[in-house]
Amino acid sequence: MRITGIFGNLLCQIRLLLFIAVCVTIVGWTNFYMKDSTRYTPKYRTPVENFWKSPLSEKKTEENSQPPLVEQTSQKEEDLKICPILSPNLQGVVPLMFPPNLTLADVEKKIPMMRNGHYQPETCRSQQRVAILIPYRNRERHLLYLLDNLLPFLQRQLLDYAIYIIHQAGNDTFNRAQLLNIGYLEALKEENWDCFIFHDVDLVPENDYNTYLCDSEPKHLVVVCNATNYNSVYKEYFGGVTAMTRKQIAKVNGYSNNYWGWGGEDDDLYYRVQLGNMTVVRPAREVARYTMISHTRDVGNEKNEKRWELLKNVSKVWKTDGLNSCTYELLSIEHNPLYINITVDIGKPHN
Ligand SMILES: *[C@@H]1O[C@H](CO)[C@@H](O)[C@H](O)[C@H]1NC(C)=O
Ligand SMILES: *[C@@H]1O[C@H](CO)[C@@H](O)[C@H](O)[C@H]1NC(C)=O
Ligand SMILES: *[C@@H]1O[C@H](CO)[C@@H](O)[C@H](O)[C@H]1NC(C)=O
Repeated sequence: MRITGIFGNLLCQIRLLLFIAVCVTIVGWTNFYMKDSTRYTPKYRTPVENFWKSPLSEKKTEENSQPPLVEQTSQKEEDLKICPILSPNLQGVVPLMFPPNLTLADVEKKIPMMRNGHYQPETCRSQQRVAILIPYRNRERHLLYLLDNLLPFLQRQLLDYAIYIIHQAGNDTFNRAQLLNIGYLEALKEENWDCFIFHDVDLVPENDYNTYLCDSEPKHLVVVCNATNYNSVYKEYFGGVTAMTRKQIAKVNGYSNNYWGWGGEDDDLYYRVQLGNMTVVRPAREVARYTMISHTRDVGNEKNEKRWELLKNVSKVWKTDGLNSCTYELLSIEHNPLYINITVDIGKPHN
C-alpha cells in the first residue's frame, strides 16, 4: 500500500520523528508560557508599574495567586481598575494661591467631594490608601492655605486619602514627633492605611508629579524649598514632608517622643531609618519643590537645645522610645468634611 510504502522509507520515518519532536516541543513551550504568564502577570497591570518597585506592589505580584486584600470591601469597589501611578490628570506646576480672605467655608465649597476628612477617586481604586498626618497648633491660616492647595493636588493624583490634624492642646512646649506618633496610632484605629505622609502645616507642594505614595524605602518629599532659595539643605535632611509605609514606621518604632521644641526629631528619624537597615529615597529636585508659608517662630516651639545630646543616643534608645512608649490623653476626635481633628494632651517635658 501507499502508506506502507511511505513508512517503509527510512527518510520519511526520520521526518516523522522530527515532526513529532517539534510538535511536542511546541506544546511544551506553549503550556509553560501560558502557566508562566498567568502566574506572573498582575491582575491590574499599569504601564508605569515596572519602574515603581514598592513593597506593596511586589507583594501584590508575589501573592497574585492569593485572594486580593480588597475582597472584603464592596463589589463595586472591587470591580474598579487600579489607578495608574501617574494620573492622567496631573498638571505639573500649578500656581499656588494664598488669598488673604480665604475661609474654611470657601475651601469646603471648592472641595465638595470629601466626607469626614476622607476622599476616594470615583473612577479607579488607588494604588495605596494614604493617611496624611499634620501636627498642629494655632496655625489656622497655614492650615487653610495648605488644604486649599493640597486637596485638589491629591485629587489630581487620584489618591485614596484622609487628612488627620493632630492638635496639641494647651500652651506647653510643642512636640511635633510625638504628635506624629499619635496620628499614626489613632489613624490605624480607623482604617488599615498602607502609607503615611508626615506633613508640616506650612509646606505646600508646587508640582503634582511629586506623588504622595510610599516607596520601597522611606521617601523624603521636600528636596528644595523657596525658604532656602531652592537650594538643598543637607544630605541627611529628612524633615518637612516624608512618606513611610506602615511596615517601615513599625520597623523604626516611629519617632522619638523626647524632642520638645523645634528641631532634631527629623534627624533622629533619619538615624532610625539607618538603624533599621533602610535608606532614604527622594524624587527629582525639579519635582520635589515646596513653598514655605512665611511665619515667625511660634511661642512654645523654641529651638530645642537638648537635641544634640539626644541625637547621640539614638542607637541606645530607639527600641524603647517611640510608638511603643507613646502615652497621651485623647481629648477629642472630630470629623469635619475636610479633615479629622484629633486633640490630645501630651503634657510637658519631664525634666
Ligand atoms: C477675597 O478678596 C478678593 C479681592 O482681594 C475678592 O475678589 C474675593 O471675592 C474675596 N473673596 C471672598 C470669599 O470674600
Ligand atoms: C494659651 O495661650 C493663648 C494665647 O497665647 C491664650 O489665649 C490661651 O488661653 C492659653 N491657653 C491655655 C490653656 O492656657
Ligand atoms: C516663599 O513663598 C511664600 C508664598 O509666596 C512667601 O510667603 C514666603 O515669604 C516665601 N519665602 C521666601 C524665603 O521667599
